[in-house]
Order: sequence, then structure tokens, then C-alpha cells
Amino acid sequence: MIYFDNAATSWPKPPQVAEAMMHFLRDVGANPGRSAHRTAVESGRIVYAAREAVCELVNAPDPLRVAFTANVTVALNMALWGLLRPGDHVITSSMEHNSVMRPLRALERKGVELTVVRCSPEGFLNPADVQAAIRPNTRMIVLNHASNVAGTILPVREVGHIAHAHNLLLLVDAAQTAGAYPIDVQADGIDLLAFTGHKSLLGPMGTGGLVLGPRVDVSRMEPLIRGGTGSRSEREEQPDFLPDMLESGTPNAVGIAGLEAGIRWVLERGVEAIRAHEMALAQRAIDGLRAIPGVTVYGPLDAARQTATVSFNIAGMEPSEAGLRLDEEHGILCRVGLHCAPAAHKTLGTFPVGTVRFGMGVFNTADEVDAAVAAVEALAREARR
Ligand code: ALA
Repeated sequence: MIYFDNAATSWPKPPQVAEAMMHFLRDVGANPGRSAHRTAVESGRIVYAAREAVCELVNAPDPLRVAFTANVTVALNMALWGLLRPGDHVITSSMEHNSVMRPLRALERKGVELTVVRCSPEGFLNPADVQAAIRPNTRMIVLNHASNVAGTILPVREVGHIAHAHNLLLLVDAAQTAGAYPIDVQADGIDLLAFTGHKSLLGPMGTGGLVLGPRVDVSRMEPLIRGGTGSRSEREEQPDFLPDMLESGTPNAVGIAGLEAGIRWVLERGVEAIRAHEMALAQRAIDGLRAIPGVTVYGPLDAARQTATVSFNIAGMEPSEAGLRLDEEHGILCRVGLHCAPAAHKTLGTFPVGTVRFGMGVFNTADEVDAAVAAVEALAREARR
């Protein structure tokens, strides 16, 4: 079996992830930040260590400005609903996932103005187009760091400079990049970084979070959810400090323990080394697939400008059929269709049919890429007959 669905969720996980989760379940188990007994203190320590690991990974200065969430979608909603008000204008790109597009369309119905800047058919965003879209009431720019469809990397740092020059907030959806591509929230000018734990950070599902930079005025932020935080229990009002104001209810501490182990594994291996490995896989896949008659590959076609996510189609074969046959006849597991990103597919010219997507990860090998390319070649040959 060849697992090429890392853009949906990474697999396998380093053994340390399951071990950390088992340790938490077996030996710790208590609710972090609530009780004061020894295992509750240990539980709180584990959650705090995970905040520190996130900070180390993305060069964020303050672990208390990392709020854990159930996934990146919650983190994005937290930032968008928390900071945008009717009359505000927000700019995004045409390469976004529905985790950004759907909350933005809902906010539009509540009176938030939205500009979707068109990207090129490869998914590239021109920062000058973002600059040109700025209005007096623009408050935020929201960008996908890399497309989950074609892997295209968006120019976050350039847009960060533009955002700061105009006193705007930059919210980045790092679902496809955290752990796979270097992120430095300070150098990149990222004010809000939404991340998921279960993709390239190699943690379990049910983990993610929002990193808030110093330019985010939390006194102007509305929490998405209010409730018990283990702090200021005498008050019926939500705490106004981080991370508590954004972390109501018992957290997924067992998942966060696994997430910390995943991040530590990434830090030990080194994001640059992971990136180099994944770039080599991506270029091998792009070159191999492009050489097959009848196969069209979408996106940058250049590993230096994309993640290890490669989308393609086989002439004469629907993506759904290709995906099914890759699984059943060749043991290759990938994702087909629209990948919850219709806007990105419209940009790439692959809407409404979608694509076949190979999402490669740190544990994949060149031999697996060659086997997958050979499988696609066999399907394409048959489709040509
Ligand atoms: N957003 C994830 C994907 O692209 C689930 O598959």
C-alpha cells in the first residue's frame, strides 16, 4: 500500500506520537488548568510544553498567545468571526479552501465586504493585486500559505509587508505548510497563524490552533465559544486574556500531548530537511506524470514553488474512476474531486470535475513515486485505447 493522502491527513505518525498519547492516557489523565493536584499540574505542563513547541516551530515569541483548537477550521473561524465587523473589508485569494471561503461568505451576508483576488491558472498570487484591492475600510488579508489542491505556495512574506505598511492584519491558513515549509511569523509578518496538528505536524486529528501576534488587539476580539476556562471562576464573564479567552471547555489534552511529540519530531528532523525531501518527491512526481501521454498536471510544475501535493487528470478517465482504480488495482491511496476548494479548482480550470491528487509526505520514498507514476501510466494507456 502506498499512502499518498498526506494533504488530507498525514500517515503514518512517528511512534513517539502514539507513545506520548498513551503516556497521557495511562499515567496522567487529569484535566489541565483545572484542579491543583499532581496529575492536573502535569497535564497543564504537557499542554504548556506543546505551546512552547508551536512557538519554537514558527518563531512566535509568546506561548500564551497560542490557542489550541479542534482543527484549523475552528482556528480560522475564531480569527474571522472574532475580528471582522460589519462595514469592514477583507481581502482573500481565489485559491482558498472552503474553511476560509465559507466563513467569509457568511460574514459577507452580515455586512463584511469581501474582495477575492484572482490568482493565475497555476495558482500564483500577485502581491500587487492585493495592494490594489486595499480600501480605506480594509481590516484584514486572509491567505492560504499553500494550496491543498495544487500545492502552489502563496507569497505570504510579500503580502505581510503590504499588510503592515497599511496597518492591516494578515491571517494565514497554514494547513498545508506547518511542519513542511519554513514559517517565521515575525519575519513573514503573520499576525494570525491558523494551523492543523494532524497533517505535516504529524499529530493526531482533533488538534490545531491559532497563534496570535502582538499586533492583534484581543480586547477587540470576540471569542467564538465562551465557557469554563479554569480561571477567574468567580466571574460569569469570559476572561479577557490569552489563551483562556479562546480556550473554553476541557481541551483535547491527549491529542495535544501527541501533537507536541509530532512537533518535536519535526524540529529534530528539521523543517528544511523535510522540505528538501518533499521537494525531491514532488519534482519526481511532476516530471514522471507530465511525461505520460494524456496526463495533465496542474499548478506550478516546479517543486521549488509548491508543496509535495500534485494534482493531475488522465484524459478520458474521470478522477473518481482513476482514484478508485489506483486504490483497488495498485494499492495507491489518494484523494480525488474538488478537495473542499471549489474556488481553487475554478482558478486552475479543473472545476467541476476536479483532479486526482497525490499528497506526498515525509515518510514517502522515491520508489513509491515511481510505482505511482507507473500505475498512472497503465491507466492512461488504457484510457487512450
Ligand atoms: N483539507 C483537506 C484536504 O485537502 C482535508 O484533503
